[in-house]
Amino acid sequence: MSRLFLFLLFGCAEFGQHVESARILGVFPVAGKSVNILYNKLMTGLADAGHDVTVISAFENKRKIKNGSLTDVILTGFEEKYDVLLASMDMYNTPIQSPIWASHYMQKVFLHINNNTFWHPNVRKFLKEKNEFDLVISEYFWNDALSEFAAIYNCPLVIFTSMGGVNPWLGQMVGNPMPISYVPHFHANKDAFRDMGFFPRLHNFFYYLYDPIHNYFVGWPDHNELIREALKDIPEIAKNVQDVAELYYNPSLILLGSHSSIRQAVPVAPNVVEIGGFHIEPPKKLPKDLQDFLDGATDGVIYFSMGSHLESKSFSEEKKKIFLEVFRKTKLKVLWKFEDDLLPGKSDNVLIKKWLPQMDILAHPNVKLFLSHGGYASTLETVYNGKPSLMVPVLIDQLGNAQEATHQGYALTIPYNDENFSEATLSSMINEMVTNPKYAERAKSISEVFHDRPMKPLDTAIYWIEYVIRHKGADHLKLAGRLLPWYKFYMVDVLVFLISVIFIVIYLPIRLVKGLFTPKKSSKTKVKRN
Ligand SMILES: *[C@@H]1O[C@H](CO)[C@@H](O)[C@H](O)[C@H]1NC(C)=O
Ligand SMILES: *[C@@H]1O[C@H](CO)[C@@H](O)[C@H](O)[C@H]1NC(C)=O
Ligand SMILES: *[C@@H]1O[C@H](CO)[C@@H](O)[C@H](O)[C@H]1NC(C)=O
Repeated sequence: MSRLFLFLLFGCAEFGQHVESARILGVFPVAGKSVNILYNKLMTGLADAGHDVTVISAFENKRKIKNGSLTDVILTGFEEKYDVLLASMDMYNTPIQSPIWASHYMQKVFLHINNNTFWHPNVRKFLKEKNEFDLVISEYFWNDALSEFAAIYNCPLVIFTSMGGVNPWLGQMVGNPMPISYVPHFHANKDAFRDMGFFPRLHNFFYYLYDPIHNYFVGWPDHNELIREALKDIPEIAKNVQDVAELYYNPSLILLGSHSSIRQAVPVAPNVVEIGGFHIEPPKKLPKDLQDFLDGATDGVIYFSMGSHLESKSFSEEKKKIFLEVFRKTKLKVLWKFEDDLLPGKSDNVLIKKWLPQMDILAHPNVKLFLSHGGYASTLETVYNGKPSLMVPVLIDQLGNAQEATHQGYALTIPYNDENFSEATLSSMINEMVTNPKYAERAKSISEVFHDRPMKPLDTAIYWIEYVIRHKGADHLKLAGRLLPWYKFYMVDVLVFLISVIFIVIYLPIRLVKGLFTPKKSSKTKVKRN
């Protein structure tokens, strides 16, 4: 009897709402500064909630932890390697890529980053220590090898994604129904797919097909091989690894860095949660020179930044001149993130700075327009602050983001490499956006939808991560469909069976009867023809 009592007591305690300090490992080897702001925000948020957090990434955490703890395993040299990679890409001269090319390129880059992570001396040292974890968080861009951290520590895996909505490669993991008929592929030109007629759907079908086929024949074998090679001298860890294909279909939770207010609605599995905008904090006080500049701009300010991957100083001379001329002729002031001390030909209404506190600037009431590259974080930040945006997309997801924002009515798009990119076009677009109130009004109303949520997005993320820990991986949220082969998932076997039955029961007898009654006629025609 007392045993039953104890069981009830502890059973209930385990059932309770709070997770006492858990051990959480974050693995984020992509060394982009902008995505690391997101990773850092998520992991420090978890530490502040009282958890013991370990982060494998290229950057050291600088923020003070309020409650739990945060230990860094730093991927030294990754930031430099990443910068070399970016420099080698010549991003401003990259033609708009096909979705398949874009996926292919990123798959190669991420295989390389995964491999370097497992071979990094700090990671090898860390793996050899006897660590234990209750949960692993990582980002998924075809970096299947990273999921092995969950297998190694025998704990649930949470995937966070910094970009977009439900990417085809994430949807599959959790068994989302693939919305091929009405949601353009992540990398597709969204305008070309606005009307999902027959040919756009045919194209979309092939785009969606590429990822699973690539994973099956190329990606998974490569990542399995990479893990086998990298861990062969750490047998105590290697014994825990699983086939990456199994891990692919087994994440407990996907945290989407997007929000339905700024993109097309898509079906999501019960273990997919939106936390877009979780990194944004209420505005802080600006440095005095910026505050004065913004306060004094009674006609308004254009805030101009190409994000952290693209640099304005690398614009072609021709484009630089276009921007300078357009700014010279506007009565608005311009605050420009420009990564050099000098900008010859700059007019007096333009202030350049190598780095700018974007979120605090966008919150200023005199900022009338955000001239941006259409990156995902910038788009979230402009919507958060209800500011219209003129987008100059260059590559990857930027064109799609810009087209979506334009479609929603709070932005206009002029791609950097567009044949119509000229002083006249840019000038008239800016003029249209600052004089016609419809863009600002639309930005405000979308911003209201963006903010209308039951919980702050960072709290939502922490709640669901703790939920997964409390319920030991929350297997009850995983859709069974994710494990079905495609022909079962789409009922192809049943359809083929039914069509065969119809054929046998209806069509064959009719043919047979027809054949019995018209043998002569057909032989006659044959004779005639001969
Ligand atoms: C600090 O962490 C503990 C769990 O370790 C938690 O109960 C408490 O609420 C946390 N405090 C704050 C302010 O988040
Ligand atoms: C992974 O890195 C190791 C060590 O640098 C290297 O020997 C190996 O060829 C790499 N494998 C892949 C698939 O890049
Ligand atoms: C450029 O502008 C012309 C005239 O407005 C238009 O017909 C054409 O489609 C534009 N080109 C592009 C690439 O948008």
